[in-house]
Amino acid sequence: MSATLVQGAYIVAGLLFILALAGLSRHETARSGNRYGIAGMALALVATVLAATAGEDGSGGLGFLLIVAAMGIGAVIGLDRARKVEMTGMPELIALLHSFVGLAAVLVGWNSSYEQTPYPTIHDIEVFVGVFIGAVTFTGSIVAFLKLSARIPSRPLMLPYRNWLNVGALALFFVLTAVYLAVPESSVFVRHLLLGVVTILALALGWHLVASIGGGDMPVVVSMLNSYSGWAAAAAGFLLSNDLLIITGALVGSSGAYLSYIMCRAMNRSFISVIAGGFGVEGGTAAADADYGDHREITATGVAELLAGASSVLITPGYGMAVAQAQYPVASLTSTLRERGVDVRFGIHPVAGRLPGHMNVLLAEAKVPYDIVLEMDEVNDDLADTDVVLVIGANDTVNPSAAEDPSSPIAGMPVLRVWEANDVIVFKRSMATGYAGVQNPLFFRENTQMLFGDAKERVEDILKAL
Ligand code: TAP
Repeated sequence: MSATLVQGAYIVAGLLFILALAGLSRHETARSGNRYGIAGMALALVATVLAATAGEDGSGGLGFLLIVAAMGIGAVIGLDRARKVEMTGMPELIALLHSFVGLAAVLVGWNSSYEQTPYPTIHDIEVFVGVFIGAVTFTGSIVAFLKLSARIPSRPLMLPYRNWLNVGALALFFVLTAVYLAVPESSVFVRHLLLGVVTILALALGWHLVASIGGGDMPVVVSMLNSYSGWAAAAAGFLLSNDLLIITGALVGSSGAYLSYIMCRAMNRSFISVIAGGFGVEGGTAAADADYGDHREITATGVAELLAGASSVLITPGYGMAVAQAQYPVASLTSTLRERGVDVRFGIHPVAGRLPGHMNVLLAEAKVPYDIVLEMDEVNDDLADTDVVLVIGANDTVNPSAAEDPSSPIAGMPVLRVWEANDVIVFKRSMATGYAGVQNPLFFRENTQMLFGDAKERVEDILKAL
């Protein structure tokens, strides 16, 4: 494949990726966005493999076979995982995939450190930056995977002087890079020793950055690691002189950074403090066992009666809806109520669930009309005029202590003010806390009633009673 054709294919693939990102930003265009992304990636793979294996000396044939075999093995594993993964397992799977991007950047960096180039200084900087970002992404993503899959606790690791540890590691990286540049190329052992130290330093930094972030801030970590993986890919693109990898990495890196910024705004957190590993976050002190009084319970039939007399209903789903796979009966309940003339709307918190857009994906899957699925800010001011709010498997995102208790670990995070409605029904299986581990005073309010049990079964019971 000629170099011009490859460059042409790369430009088209780059444009397809931009169209994909644009498409993914809205419900209505998300499917076509996905198709653009798949087409762009297919084109990019074909062009890259053909270009990389077009050896004029005949050596390309073996290279081609090896790459195709590796891709085949990867595709079989990837397809198998994608088919089996539950929607609730997506966040940790994505974190694991980010770690692969980081590891690939580290390997590409080490491999490139053995190469001779006409521009050694620039090349050395690329190697150091690539290995550093890759290693931070690798261990950071592994810790995120462990936290999201509840293999380790989600509470923040509070090492003494943790902010200075991060700043110190960054400063040491710059010093080691400068020393590396000063060491002559002939001192191969010293140069690799320095690269090894930087790799270990970055692995430790990535681990510490994410370990220091508390459960409540994990949404930002997910999007931040997405961004890091993009920059790691871009760094690998520079080392491999692959323009498309640079473009794609930059697209992922910048869109992930912007998403992190949006998440921080949604959670009222400082962007800098979160990317610096919880810098300045002192952690709240809300007592997990505070006595808020007694809670009231209701039956599915009772909820059906309440809904039959309501003229406006707001449904706010959370992670529990994903666990229960309750989106289908929720969609049926929505259409039943709408057929009876009830005004039904959904209020989606930006960090509900475990992935950006998690609830939107589930509701779209169950074919809930897009125009009644609204953002938190679009519904919060009307909640006082709403008859019934159904909180389906949500907890932290409707916790009044975030708005009312400055000592709460989630203080300051904007939440859906569901307690302002006439009646609030909370669907969950127990009185357990949500992801952030904070008790929820909503459950003890006078206008709140708990409907215990699996959310899917309870919504189906309500449908029967209606
Ligand atoms: P959570 O606070 O996680 O609460 C979910 C609730 O669902 C739990 O209290 C649980 O109570 C209930 N539940 C679980 N399985 C259920 C089932 N089968 N049927 C009925 N209820 C069930 O949910 P949220 O309000 O969506 O908040 C999200 C939290 O995750 C936030 O703290 C957020 O910061 C964090 N987080 C978000 C993301 C992103 S990007 N969205 C990423 C990482 C972390 P029971 O056990 O009593 O049933």
